[in-house]
Amino acid sequence: MTRALIFGLGGVGCIYGYILQQGGVEVTAVCRSNYEQVKANGVTIRSAKWGTVTARPHAARSPKEAAQYGPFDYILVCSKAFPGTSELIRDAVTGGTAVVLAQNGIGIEAEYAAAYPSNTMISGVVYLPTTQVEPGVVEHGTPLERFEIGSYPSLAGSAAEDAVTKLAELFAKGGGTCIAYDDVQAQRWEKLSVNASLNPITALSLCDDANFLRSSPGALEVAKDVMREVGAVAAAYGYHGVDKATIDRHMLRHEQRVNGKEPSMLVDVRQNRPVEVEAILGYTVRLAEKQNVAVPYLRMLYTLTKARNFAIVQSDEWKPIARVS
Ligand SMILES: NC(=O)c1ccc[n+]([C@@H]2O[C@H](COP(=O)([O-])OP(=O)(O)OC[C@H]3O[C@@H](n4cnc5c(N)ncnc54)[C@H](OP(=O)(O)O)[C@@H]3O)[C@@H](O)[C@H]2O)c1
Repeated sequence: MTRALIFGLGGVGCIYGYILQQGGVEVTAVCRSNYEQVKANGVTIRSAKWGTVTARPHAARSPKEAAQYGPFDYILVCSKAFPGTSELIRDAVTGGTAVVLAQNGIGIEAEYAAAYPSNTMISGVVYLPTTQVEPGVVEHGTPLERFEIGSYPSLAGSAAEDAVTKLAELFAKGGGTCIAYDDVQAQRWEKLSVNASLNPITALSLCDDANFLRSSPGALEVAKDVMREVGAVAAAYGYHGVDKATIDRHMLRHEQRVNGKEPSMLVDVRQNRPVEVEAILGYTVRLAEKQNVAVPYLRMLYTLTKARNFAIVQSDEWKPIARVS
């Protein structure tokens, strides 16, 4: 039987755990603040796609405790993409484990590849508007659900390709949508163009996506300007997919929402939690600088979001919780 560990049982982790369990996988989850509820009641998902469904993963407090349910064929990292967190899963990684990053951002794989050089690495791009509304209870309000995956690096060999193909099959068996790509970095840049724009804009304005876009006549073009900058950085690295058609298509999805969605960065700001400022903006700005691509909007958003994050991490509400930095 295939065994998977979900590290980070939040919005995305709960749903991916559910899909894999439906696909016949034995699922274990490392839980933090929702441990008691998940241990007692499992996970409840209120989904526009599947209705109200439940999953019952083995609940563990740490990867060390989780290891009793291993060895794991896959570890899905579904925590927020913060630099320096690759060590957190070490106690659950064995030789046959494929490490799957189900996270937003760009350039996030290198740290894991360096930490686990002998393991297969799978990079995953998540389209899944979801929020954990109470411990172990997740809302998935629109039916969008797509996981785009590929090995890291691309063309990593047949073992990695097999692991990618098998994961896509398990998702399909579990009622999910998982698409395998030869080079998933193209998809990562495309998703980044949305995240680097709407995540900081909504987090800083405290306005959900649809409401931001209808908040002033210039709002849509500003959001697209940021996406165009990401497109220019991507092109400097050989990825030309973030073009006008792609930008218009993505923005239309957000414009058409009657009830807006709060991107995860806005949810984190509201809850006074650290935000993925480096994975989404910092790495992008640094990649732009390396190729001399001018990114004034991104630099401004990076600086302001970094300040927002600084204020959160320094705050008194933050310190006693002792979360991962
Ligand atoms: N949510 C969305 O709509 C969405 C859509 C697309 C992509 N994404 C991306 O998907 C990734 C996951 O996002 P999310 O929204 O699912 O995040 P989330 O709801 O904040 O969940 C992250 C989970 O990781 C847990 N965690 C963090 N550090 C941990 C540790 N050391 N030990 C155990 N658990 C730990 C957190 O526990 P606590 O609850 O105790 O903090 C939380 O349950 C992010 O990269 C995000 O940008 C999210």
